[in-house]
Amino acid sequence: MSETIERAWGEDWREWVTDKARGWVLEIGAGDGVNLSYYHADARVIATEPDAESLDMITEYEDNVTLAQVDAQDLPFPDATFDAIVGTLVFCTIPDVPRALREVRRVLKPNGSLRLVEHVRAKNPVGRALMHAANPAWHWMTGGCNINRDTLSAVRAAGFQVIGLEKQMLGLIVGIDARR
Ligand SMILES: C[S@@+](CC[C@H](N)C(=O)[O-])C[C@H]1O[C@@H](n2cnc3c(N)ncnc32)[C@H](O)[C@@H]1O
Repeated sequence: MSETIERAWGEDWREWVTDKARGWVLEIGAGDGVNLSYYHADARVIATEPDAESLDMITEYEDNVTLAQVDAQDLPFPDATFDAIVGTLVFCTIPDVPRALREVRRVLKPNGSLRLVEHVRAKNPVGRALMHAANPAWHWMTGGCNINRDTLSAVRAAGFQVIGLEKQMLGLIVGIDARR
């Protein structure tokens, strides 16, 4: 998926998603830490990931990064802690999206920045129906990813204001620039 996005968007999509992240930054679902080298040196980044094996794969990172084993559905941080929150290809996998977005909103400061890059379901009814039909097999084959999520609507429904939107591959890939 990462390579597909790179072909459609260009090599700088991870720069886009991390670009506004200054001050206290939370990354959710950081995986093996592929975004970590993109953060500005003055960002204090808490990179979180629930999967211990993935976290163990992050061996090289800068002094401004702290790693934590954390589920985005249950963030162990006080309200309004972070200036910015970042996630890439994570809301396709989180089991309870509204719950995770509630948590993200809770720990983000008022006016704080949320930037996500996600693959989402097709807008047209045929594509959407095909994605729904294929999702159980896709979910099983990928170990938990869903191809039929409407993450943009979920972000809006959670109360975020979407202030910018990048669309690639007929809107199947979205870059969401939102604020609390
Ligand atoms: C497709 S990977 C993306 C990893 C990385 N962000 C990237 O861009 O390559 C999806 C990630 O979401 C994580 N994830 C799954 N459930 C999660 C949850 N409840 N909270 C936070 N992250 C979760 C997975 O462990 C995995 O690292």
